[in-house]
Amino acid sequence: MPRFLLSAETLNVTKFLMGSDFMDALILSRLQFAITTLYHFLFVPVTLGLSIFVALLETWYIFSGSYEERIKLKKLVKFFGTIFLINFAMGVVTGIVQEFHFGMNWSEYARFMGDIFGAPLALEALTAFFIESTFIGLWIFGWDKLSEKLHCLCIWLVAFGSNLSAFWILVANSFMQHPVGYAIEDGRAVMTDFIELVTNPYVLGEYSHALFAGITTGGFLVIVVSAWKIATDEDSREMFIRTMRRAVLYTLLGTLGVMGSGHMHAQYLATANPMKLASFEALWETENPAPFAVVADINQEARRNDSEILIPKMFSFMVHNSFSGEVKGINDLQREAVEKYGSGYYIPNDVRGMFWSFRAMVGTGGLLLLIVLVTGFLFIFQQSKIREHACCLKFMPLLLPLPFIANSAGWYIAEAGRQPWIVVGLQKTAVAVSPNLSAGEVWITLIGFTAIYLFLAALAVLAAVMFIRRTKITEEE
Ligand code: HEM
Repeated sequence: MPRFLLSAETLNVTKFLMGSDFMDALILSRLQFAITTLYHFLFVPVTLGLSIFVALLETWYIFSGSYEERIKLKKLVKFFGTIFLINFAMGVVTGIVQEFHFGMNWSEYARFMGDIFGAPLALEALTAFFIESTFIGLWIFGWDKLSEKLHCLCIWLVAFGSNLSAFWILVANSFMQHPVGYAIEDGRAVMTDFIELVTNPYVLGEYSHALFAGITTGGFLVIVVSAWKIATDEDSREMFIRTMRRAVLYTLLGTLGVMGSGHMHAQYLATANPMKLASFEALWETENPAPFAVVADINQEARRNDSEILIPKMFSFMVHNSFSGEVKGINDLQREAVEKYGSGYYIPNDVRGMFWSFRAMVGTGGLLLLIVLVTGFLFIFQQSKIREHACCLKFMPLLLPLPFIANSAGWYIAEAGRQPWIVVGLQKTAVAVSPNLSAGEVWITLIGFTAIYLFLAALAVLAAVMFIRRTKITEEE
């Protein structure tokens, strides 16, 4: 009897893990991809933005004048370079896992899309990743072996390689959002025009927005680290005041760029993917002029907002730069999709999440701009008062999550807004998952990745914090 009870319990646990009654392989694979992508994208924007900042810093160093100044600037380049390296290592490790998902969890997608998706991924490895990895090695070990200018060129090539790598990945992602340059042959998508794939107008919006998001994130990290050093490290204060001023200008460029590119990309979505646009604005009915909902109580089941606070005509203005102009609503777009693709539910299944993610992203962008302007004002026009504000600067690291929140919210909108499609109009997410995958298998990797990633993140943060605390930027060699 006890043996029987034991095996029944074991069976229940196995059923819970392997069976479909708790969560199925599809939902779990989506969850796993979301977790690993959002985690990976904590490091990517820092790599994109900080690589350029370190390259600018090294250029400043090689063209600077006095001997004392050069010693301190070199230390500064190595200081931010080390933070960059810790982050870069994490980005690479977590990025490799991403590629395995396609074969393991999404084999139907890989079968259907491999011909197209494989090309930019291969080019990413062959062009961008090879440049990054070769020149990062030369940069790390070449300090006393290469000429100063050649050494500086290495970090510029690392920055170029990193940003090129993001470009190729976004070419692949843009195809999923807005397929171009393909034909369907024997139930598979095949590439007919590589140039069309690379010049997909969707890439322009996604890439410019991601690049400026990287500049904002990398620049804000430098602001936060500099603020903390200014407040806590008397010996290094003078040099970090100088990086602070440069980082403020750099981050200002990033925040203005992210706002401009985001706005233009949102306007472009009105034609490229109106369902996504209407969903993150929770506009259920087509309107002309369309109002902008500041807040809304979204009722997805009833396909309406139960209550909302609206700014009249504002959504039309955001889309058409004019207070009149039609914006299509979710319900009409659903009817159009049924006519085009047959019966089905074509509305992203988390309109509420997308609506609030969009507000989180834009709100965080506004807050970052305000912080950068106030910090810039303090460091450019109120230099004599910096000491008085030292206690506030000490708390600036608490603001560090802001750009990361905006980045994660941005990706949530981009990917949740593509649903129910994995490749818009061509393949649904539900049929893209590997057919032989069990929920139990995905549970194991999901728990494993989450635990390892948490451990790695704690290590990376600890290493960076210890390094920042201990390193001093002084004239001593
Ligand atoms: C006025 C401010 C902003 C607007 C109008 C805006 C607009 C958008 C839109 C429409 C998308 C969806 C793109 C798609 O699905 O293809 C998006 C995605 C994204 N946003 Fe923003 N955004 C703003 C601020 C920010 C800020 C401050 C950050 C980060 C610092 C950020 C980071 C991202 C990222 C990482 C994505 C996903 C990747 C991409 O599409 O490039 N955004 N944003």
